[in-house]
Amino acid sequence: MLETINRYILPQVSSTFAADVDALFTFINVTSVIILLGITVAIFYFSIKYRRKSEDDVTPVIRFNTMLEVTWITIPLILVLIVFAWGFRGYIDMRTPPGNAYEVYVTANSFFWQFTYPNGVQTTDELYVPAGRPVKLIMQSRDVIHSFFVPDFRIKQDVLPGRYTTLWFETLTSGEHVIFCTEYCGTGHSAMDGMVYALEPDEFNAWLNEQKELSERELPLAELGRNLYTSQGCAGCHSLDGSVVIGPTFQGLYGAERQFTDGTSRVADEEYLRESIKYPGRVINVGFNNIMPSYEGQLSDDQITAIIEFIKELE
Ligand code: CUA
Repeated sequence: MLETINRYILPQVSSTFAADVDALFTFINVTSVIILLGITVAIFYFSIKYRRKSEDDVTPVIRFNTMLEVTWITIPLILVLIVFAWGFRGYIDMRTPPGNAYEVYVTANSFFWQFTYPNGVQTTDELYVPAGRPVKLIMQSRDVIHSFFVPDFRIKQDVLPGRYTTLWFETLTSGEHVIFCTEYCGTGHSAMDGMVYALEPDEFNAWLNEQKELSERELPLAELGRNLYTSQGCAGCHSLDGSVVIGPTFQGLYGAERQFTDGTSRVADEEYLRESIKYPGRVINVGFNNIMPSYEGQLSDDQITAIIEFIKELE
């Protein structure tokens, strides 16, 4: 019966940690419910049994009862120690990635996730991993504190600017799982989600090699720009179809007259686009907030040119 309840209230069991985490969770829940019911029944029973029956009913004064004291100290102590030992064992397990783990670098940005694989391939908001093999994530943030959370794996860890934090997991099978940012990080926090795709090891290697080849192909500038648009996270905030997500749409942007919050205006030419990518806070378009991270040092001049060429093609 407990398993049926858990299936409704807990996410899918998809990593080697999940079953143990759920078992501890269930233990705490069941113990709490039993204690709650016991106390509630006792309260009702005593309030009826010892209710005032006549005017001269006198409450007896009980100063001390060794048996009672020992009981209500020992039972909770044992319960708490069980939870501590169980939880600590699980914690150590989760903090100790196996030596043969496959490593992926994770960079959190406002408001997207970037994944870098050992062969240099990068993806955004989509993490590909080999199924049934330990995977270690080495994570840092480019701006504020974010938090990496995959409910199906029962793993969650803050991602900080200026230092690495790590996580590891091993999936039970191939499959798809949702990633959430679970630290409030700004306007786009709710949109900062992603997917983990656990692939069979052969499939994973094929995917990795294919991505490597794609990234090495010489592309026309605008096409390279389109790839950067997805891989660098522009897509999270700037639409291509005129809709407003978090930032202005790229559709029809080039050559348009832009109005800024400081009262000035300017035509969006190459120079404006380059400046906006490198120093997004200098002028803010009316109706938008100053939340875009700077890409200064993050994109090369050639890459910025490619993105500008891409924007120019979006009539
Ligand atoms: Cu990133 Cu919330």
